[in-house]
Amino acid sequence: MYYRGEVTIAVCPGSFDPLTLGHLDIVRRARSLFDEVVLGVARNSSKSALLSAEQRVEIARAALDASPGLEDVRVAIVPGLLVDFCREVGAVAVVKGLRGGADFDAELPMALMNRHLVGVETVFVPGDPALAHVASSLVKDVARFGGPVDDLVPAGVGDLVRQALADRAAGSTPAAEQTRQAQQATPTTEGTGR
Ligand code: PNS
Repeated sequence: MYYRGEVTIAVCPGSFDPLTLGHLDIVRRARSLFDEVVLGVARNSSKSALLSAEQRVEIARAALDASPGLEDVRVAIVPGLLVDFCREVGAVAVVKGLRGGADFDAELPMALMNRHLVGVETVFVPGDPALAHVASSLVKDVARFGGPVDDLVPAGVGDLVRQALADRAAGSTPAAEQTRQAQQATPTTEGTGR
């Protein structure tokens, strides 16, 4: 992919619930390929977020600021469709990391749908094999049962996850509160499967 004389912008989208060292690895690889990278904190309608979108943005911003070479990566909330966000920021590609075949199976339909919608291409980047076991869902699961996760996520994120899990166990989280307010504002019958 070479756009003569033009700045190439890529979007690294995800739920980032929470951001992990695996995500940072992919952002770093994306940054080595494109002039500009935007990390897009998006909503995956098949998942229920533990952390609010604002928390996920703050985590990403702090982690990128603390990662030499990634300070210029922008962070933004994807308010709706990823393809609309890509158009708004002028992205020529979406970058997604692959840990293995299961990731590819999950990602390919989304990549094809995004191409169908607006023609944006998805670049799949193999992640660091040393981080192949690192997934946000597993980080939450290990933390939920008191296991150590601080070496899988950027500094301070383990504490935020443990706090959010404790809040959820007590009946309230920023993400749950956000969902509750959104549901009050706009009643919906939207399904959660995919
Ligand atoms: O980290 P994830 O959950 O695997 O990322 C999936 C995500 C959030 C990138 C995807 O669900 C997404 O693009 N959501 C934004 C809404 C959208 O565009 N949905 C259609 C995807 S084809």
